[in-house]
Amino acid sequence: MGGNGATKTALKDKTLMGTNKKPGKWRKRTLAVRGGQVRSAFQETCEPLIFTAGYAYEAAEEAEARFKGESPGYQYSRISNPTVTMFEERMALLEGAPVARATATGMAAVTAVFLAGLKTGDHVVSASALFGSCRYVMENVLPRFGISCTFVEGSDLAAWQEAMRPETRLLFVETPSNPTLAIVDIAAVAKIAERGGARLIVDNAFASPALQRPMEFGAHIVVHSSTKFIDGQGRALGGMILCRQDFLDESLNLFLRNTGPTLSPFNAWLHLKSLETLELRMKQHCENAQRVADFLGQQKKVTRVLYPFRPDHPQHNLAKAQMDGGGGVVTFDVEGGKPAAFKLLNALKLIDISNNLGDAKSLLTHPETTTHQKLTSQARAAAGVTSGMLRLSVGLEDTDDLCEDLEQAIKIA
Ligand SMILES: Cc1ncc(COP(=O)(O)O)c(C=O)c1O
Repeated sequence: MGGNGATKTALKDKTLMGTNKKPGKWRKRTLAVRGGQVRSAFQETCEPLIFTAGYAYEAAEEAEARFKGESPGYQYSRISNPTVTMFEERMALLEGAPVARATATGMAAVTAVFLAGLKTGDHVVSASALFGSCRYVMENVLPRFGISCTFVEGSDLAAWQEAMRPETRLLFVETPSNPTLAIVDIAAVAKIAERGGARLIVDNAFASPALQRPMEFGAHIVVHSSTKFIDGQGRALGGMILCRQDFLDESLNLFLRNTGPTLSPFNAWLHLKSLETLELRMKQHCENAQRVADFLGQQKKVTRVLYPFRPDHPQHNLAKAQMDGGGGVVTFDVEGGKPAAFKLLNALKLIDISNNLGDAKSLLTHPETTTHQKLTSQARAAAGVTSGMLRLSVGLEDTDDLCEDLEQAIKIA
């Protein structure tokens, strides 16, 4: 399972040491710590950071054989790299995916899936609650290649079905979505995709595999911005595509290899090591977010709180069925629109104003003027973004400190 097999091949290599453990039927937490690890001849306990662009060959014949795919081993780090492979294999194990490919960013993952999987004349259906850059790719990039896109309300299954055309090849959802935390029924939309001969892509950046594994519900492709909760400390950009073997073989492999949206081995190493603590961190993010969401729900000037595991979330039951926790993001509306939202942001004494999320530090975003600024007002409305909306990525700080900061800032708003 997982990766491009290079690690498995390397395991058999005589230069690697016997301290490499053979993965048995390890459980999820064990896989997060040990999945995909390959020790070098130095027998290091920590996964090695193989920081190299190229690889040497013992003979010209060996180079030829490797390029023919007849001999195991690496050729060039645009194509694959041992540290990147370890990250891919660990992610595949955690997501329950047959194969995984890392990319430089989350947007590189989304764009690569579209460009690799589509051709002129094809059609895409997407939920309209989307991160701004995902919407840009579908609305501005794909049409240049003669690929059209229909946006639907993600919770409206009849609308998904109606939007399907004979030339529909890919369906796309973020669940939970950025920033409104809308939940889409993965199993139902995957069935619609399959009936139409298409594939469903799920952007799992907000949940992470610790809280949601879309392939268990029938998703064909999962994409990640590992910049977010997988890194967890706001350090490095990264992305991941997880899919079945057929999509990799037919569409993705040669596209990635030749176009090069490759993840740096250093970033792969950071994210690989971050996976070891993902479940622990997500548990705490969820606990903190739930507490902060409930606190915000009691504030008079807060007119709406969106958090998937709060009973007042419109798709609360679906969220509970699909996710193991509500996630680390809470979105809320303040009375008074943009001026009030800005006053609140500028009054913060602990929480940072930032457009990133998934950090150990709590970060507050005004989506209308940042992450979703470049969208047309209609697209913003379709994504559910309002002027008084704030997206809070709840970090790992003490929630008493977070609530005190929000309380004093809300008073000023
Ligand atoms: C849901 C979602 N998908 C994709 C991305 C893009 O990820 P990256 O910034 O790593 O390119 C983001 C970034 O905020 C996101 O929120």
